[in-house]
Order: sequence, then structure tokens, then C-alpha cells
Amino acid sequence: MEESQTTLQRRQQIRVRKFHHHAFRTDDMEKTRRFYEDVLAMPMIGVFVETTDPVTEEPSNYIHAFFEMADGSALAFFQFQEDMYEPSKIRGNQDPFDHHLALEVDSKETVFAYRDRFVQNGIEHMLIDHGYCYSIYVHDPNGMQVELTTKVPQTVEIMEKHAATAHEDLEKWLAGVTVANNEYRRLRGDTPAS
Ligand SMILES: [Fe+2]
Repeated sequence: MEESQTTLQRRQQIRVRKFHHHAFRTDDMEKTRRFYEDVLAMPMIGVFVETTDPVTEEPSNYIHAFFEMADGSALAFFQFQEDMYEPSKIRGNQDPFDHHLALEVDSKETVFAYRDRFVQNGIEHMLIDHGYCYSIYVHDPNGMQVELTTKVPQTVEIMEKHAATAHEDLEKWLAGVTVANNEYRRLRGDTPAS
């Protein structure tokens, strides 16, 4: 199903155009590079070496590396020279409900191809069928949870239905109505690619 005129017109009005980059701090850029470039196959397209902290304008030394996605957007990571910044306060794997990053891939076949790469590389992973998308979750070397997700045949239909009631759904939940409205959600599991 293609997006409706209502959806396309709504999008034309939005001035925030698209994802540019997401930045996160790492204490080990080489480990980070191996995960994003070697496992996820996102090329490292730039490493900026900086000697001034742009916020404080004090001398500093850090690198800022970018890993590219197919639409030109990127994931960025900072690593400071030892003693030039406190080590990252984030330790261990983050709870996905606190923060996670979802990156789109083109099909369920690609989700499963990544699952095979995670198996080969000994990376723990989890598959979830959300109904409106199908996802695999892993933690990157920095403990940040990364979701690789694909649209499914019913995605547009479900999202358009929910767009029509989004404000009403929020009001109802805030007023104490806690009935699930995602009738498409499936249980976890290794659903065959389809
Ligand atoms: Fe998500």
C-alpha cells in the first residue's frame, strides 16, 4: 500500500527534513569502527581531529567519526584523548526503554542476513515482531542498543490508521485508559522471512 495524499501532504509541511546524524560518546573508537563498519557495513566516511572544545573554547583533543547510511545520514561518535574528558558515564548495556536507536533496512531478508552476521560474530541479538515493523536488536560496543528494522506489507496501513487517532489515543491513556491498541503485535521469535 502506498501512502495516502493526506500523509504525503502532511509530510510536505514539515520543515524538519530528515535525520542528519546521531552522536554518542565512545571510549574505544576502533571497537566502534569494527562494529559499524565491519559488521553493519556502514562505511566510515570521516574522522575529524579537533583541538578545541567548541562549547568551552578550551584546548582539547578528540576525534569525531561518522559512519554513513544509504540516505547520506550518519551515526557519529566522539572519543577524547585520555584525561581530556571524563570517561563515559554509561557503563554496561542500556535499557532499550531508556534509549535506543532504530535504523531502517529494506526487507525482512536483510534483517535475517544481519542476524546471521551477529551469530557469526558472537553478538547477542533479539528479534521482535512489532506488527507495524519487524526488528532485530543488538548492543553496540558502547552499550547503546541498536535496532535494525524493516517496514512490512501492512506498515503503511497501520501507521495511517494510528495517525488518525494519535491525539485521541494519547488523551485516553493519560486519562487512565490502558487498553492495548496494537492488535498487530506478535510474540518474540525467529519468524521465517516472508
Ligand atoms: Fe524502536
